[in-house]
Amino acid sequence: MCGIVGYIGNKSLDSVLLVGLKKLEYRGYDSAGIAILNNDEISIRKSKGKIISLEEKLDAKGFDGHAGIGHTRWATHGEPSTKNAHPHTNSTGSIAVVHNGIIENYVELKNMLSEKGYVFVSETDTETIPHLIDSEIQSGKDVKQAFYDAIQKLEGKFAIAMICEIEPDRIYFARNGAPLIAAFGKKSASESFLASDLPAIIPLAKEVTYLKDGDWGYIQAGTLEIYQGEKKYENIKIEPILIKEEEVNKGDYAHFMLKEIYEQPDIMQKIIDQRIDSNNRIFFNEMLFQNDYLSKIGRVIIQACGTSLNAGLIGKLYLENFCKLTTDADFSSEFRYRNPVIGGDTLVVGISQSGETADTLAGIHEAKAKFLKVLSFVNNNNSSIARESNAVIDLMAGPEIGVASTKAYTSEVLSLFLFSIYMSAIRWVLPKEEKKQLLDEIKSLPSQIASILKNLEPIQEISNYLKDVSSALFLGRTYNYASALEGALKLKEISYIHASGYAGGEFKHGPIALISEEVPSIVIVPQGEIRKKTISNLLEVRARKGKIISIITKGDDEVKDISDFFVEIPELSEPLSPLLTAIPMQLIAYFTAVYRGCDVDKPRNLAKSVTVE
Ligand code: AGP
Ligand code: GLU
Repeated sequence: MCGIVGYIGNKSLDSVLLVGLKKLEYRGYDSAGIAILNNDEISIRKSKGKIISLEEKLDAKGFDGHAGIGHTRWATHGEPSTKNAHPHTNSTGSIAVVHNGIIENYVELKNMLSEKGYVFVSETDTETIPHLIDSEIQSGKDVKQAFYDAIQKLEGKFAIAMICEIEPDRIYFARNGAPLIAAFGKKSASESFLASDLPAIIPLAKEVTYLKDGDWGYIQAGTLEIYQGEKKYENIKIEPILIKEEEVNKGDYAHFMLKEIYEQPDIMQKIIDQRIDSNNRIFFNEMLFQNDYLSKIGRVIIQACGTSLNAGLIGKLYLENFCKLTTDADFSSEFRYRNPVIGGDTLVVGISQSGETADTLAGIHEAKAKFLKVLSFVNNNNSSIARESNAVIDLMAGPEIGVASTKAYTSEVLSLFLFSIYMSAIRWVLPKEEKKQLLDEIKSLPSQIASILKNLEPIQEISNYLKDVSSALFLGRTYNYASALEGALKLKEISYIHASGYAGGEFKHGPIALISEEVPSIVIVPQGEIRKKTISNLLEVRARKGKIISIITKGDDEVKDISDFFVEIPELSEPLSPLLTAIPMQLIAYFTAVYRGCDVDKPRNLAKSVTVE
């Protein structure tokens, strides 16, 4: 949610900042802006909408300098507009600030500053920050002290970067609950960066330091100082950046989403290779919990949001069926506030691609306040969620840039599956033969996904039909109930077609009223115990003249015959089938959105990383 970038060095500033902002655009695209320091003077360009409209404003020559900050916004306070776009300044324009997050006490601060004569020009919470810093400077403090004293007065979550005409060789920063990193380029380059996320500064940055909550300080060309409270860090942990440029670029793909869909066979293979050995033993080397603790867990609560919760719903079935562990799966935003009755032997599981989702993080804080242990499945080991959990399982999906989550979802489902098999061994639940059969089967997953990706024709035919409907229903049962929710989420978030997912058996208790010739149902009906029951649901739709798009196991002629469209997936046992049924639904959503002319990687109103509650 919102992207920040800062640079101090010799490179052409507008291009470094612009390139960085483009890479962060997945975090928000309501407006964009850049502030540059040149000859001790700040100049600013801002624009409503995507970075491209800012780029047009930068054509004019002379917009360059030695230090600058940039911002791409996901509006929380004040509509998307040029006036509300960051950077925001004090009245004289000598201080410019970009901010990610929410200043919860902004009304009090605004009242206090207005009484002192400060005039506000935007509707944002952010504008209080430059005025506040200004008022601290006016009271006689130097910039560093003023910045520190000002951030002490801010409540809420923030990552902030500030430039100031009085100290033109520094970019000040502060992090509290929103992501921020500081980085350096090649040793010879004498340059420093700030960013919300690594993709913004790859390939220029070579080394990084991950800032912690409460950290503040400043970067100068090639150096930085970090403080925690008033204490200066003596030894700053600086790590090499290992992510390669191609991991954060689209390559030859039209969209990140498509690239990420196509990465899934390789990612599944990587997870299988790293987690399962030739004797079918499973390893989670990075996870800090000992077997002794894991064997004593009496209950699991999975809490996550969106796609990650859909994966969690499948994880619940895995833990119940393979480990006989009572498991709930809940929206983080509900778990956080519903004050659940939880015993001391409960493990709370967080799942998050970004590792920065505010609701999920709040759920973790809630669990820890109740003295419960937290295990998180995350795709970013340096994220807030990874840091604040007692143990972490790495999803190994690589950077996911498309706002619609795809490869992270299948990595989450596969990791939850393997974790539940691992737990079942500790708890002596799953018979050896059944475990062997499941693990043998999972080894064919990468090639099975690849085979679905090779046959786009039936999928494109379905998308071509769906592009003209205004509503669609997704039905699935047991393991594929969550697949139906995920299929509907994918379609609605990128194509803006209304879509809802239902448990097949529940459908007749109300939602069936929606069926008409204009409202199709996408029915997930792979082979398995529940197939016959799902066919009954499918016939119920057909009897009411609803169009049927089915996702079936290869060769299922019975379902083919009663479907208007179908996509075949290879044979895989029912618990594992969500890992395959997800693929055609991702592709159906993708092509439908493309055919409707939607911006697939940047759907309206959304942001990749939702760092506000
Ligand atoms: C997925 O397509 C969505 N954009 C969204 O639901 C996402 O899964 C959710 O915000 C959770 O994100 P996280 O996995 O990074 O915590
Ligand atoms: N609250 C600020 C605003 O609405 C920042 C939002 C963000 O993190 O993008 O401008």
